[in-house]
Amino acid sequence: MDKILIRDGFEPEAVREAAALLEKGEPVAFPTETVYGLGADAFNPVAVARIFELKKRPHFDPLIVHVADRGWVERLASSIPGEAKLLMDRFWPGPLTIILKKTDLVPDIVTAGLSTVGIRMPKHPVALTLLEHLGRPIAAPSANPFGYMSTTSASDVASLFDGGLPLVLDGGMSSYGIESTIVSMVDGQVRLHRHGSVTVEELASVVGPVTEKGRDNKKCESPGELPYHYAPHTPLRIVASPQEIVKERSCFLAFAKPPAHVRSRHVRVLSAKGDLREAAGRFFSSLIALDREGMDVIYAERVPETGLGRAIMERLRKAEKRPAGNALKP
Ligand code: TXA
Ligand code: MG
Repeated sequence: MDKILIRDGFEPEAVREAAALLEKGEPVAFPTETVYGLGADAFNPVAVARIFELKKRPHFDPLIVHVADRGWVERLASSIPGEAKLLMDRFWPGPLTIILKKTDLVPDIVTAGLSTVGIRMPKHPVALTLLEHLGRPIAAPSANPFGYMSTTSASDVASLFDGGLPLVLDGGMSSYGIESTIVSMVDGQVRLHRHGSVTVEELASVVGPVTEKGRDNKKCESPGELPYHYAPHTPLRIVASPQEIVKERSCFLAFAKPPAHVRSRHVRVLSAKGDLREAAGRFFSSLIALDREGMDVIYAERVPETGLGRAIMERLRKAEKRPAGNALKP
């Protein structure tokens, strides 16, 4: 298989090349401050279809549209409620995706036929420069095969898409390490669709309490919000402490510094001092590394469910629910 080219995203020539590839309808992986994205020109339906193919992602799962300036939001969204503007003022550029009613400019394949579009202005300088060079929005899901964990480094992207992608722009480790928070603002209410790098406490400080989208909603507005997701191939079990570890052929993803003797063969610590931001930053890269050890089970230690801890636990619970039999193996 062809090797994927990794290029330094801080080199202007590399970004120009990436923009030229996108213009030709080719996919390009690029860094954002949350996780790496697998991008296509948002206005080129054939290029967007290629992203679905590359990820083996079902076509009912809509993509986020990335923009570098607020002017685009008016062209992509048919109405922008005042609260959405407040959220953009406070969190953009940054890890917040806002779902709004879409205009006809957004191809249906991007939104999986929904009448809404998720929009985000990323904060990573390489992502912003790429968007500016292209001069158009980029539709991009996280750069991982469907169902697998998101990637936070260029080398993890390259190893998961070996051969399928012409270029990965390297922008270093994603600083947040967890995907963007997703809210919708389509029916006069701010609703939380996915916990992420902006905490619910931070959202509430701008727009008051947000309604968490019920898991058992009668109508599934975001078919992409599956109960399982973000899963390693190795089965994952959440534990309250390392005392619950029974298998030796296992990995342990510790939240804070574990005791000296842990039964697992491979241990990774998310944050020795128990800091949730540091833990979020290391979360996906640590899990991907443990998954490569080929053990029977990964035990993941519960983290406190405040702030970013909610986003981490949401992902661990989804990983634990992964259907048996490696159904999601890419
Ligand atoms: O941090 C992030 O959000 C990263 C970076 C690359 O921006 N992107 C990302 O994209 O995580 P993805 O495709 O892996 O997750 C986006 C989620 C999906 O669950 C999708 O169903 C949901 O956003 N989504 C996108 N557009 C939507 C819409 N119009 N209505 C409801 N959900 C939507
Ligand atoms: Mg994803």
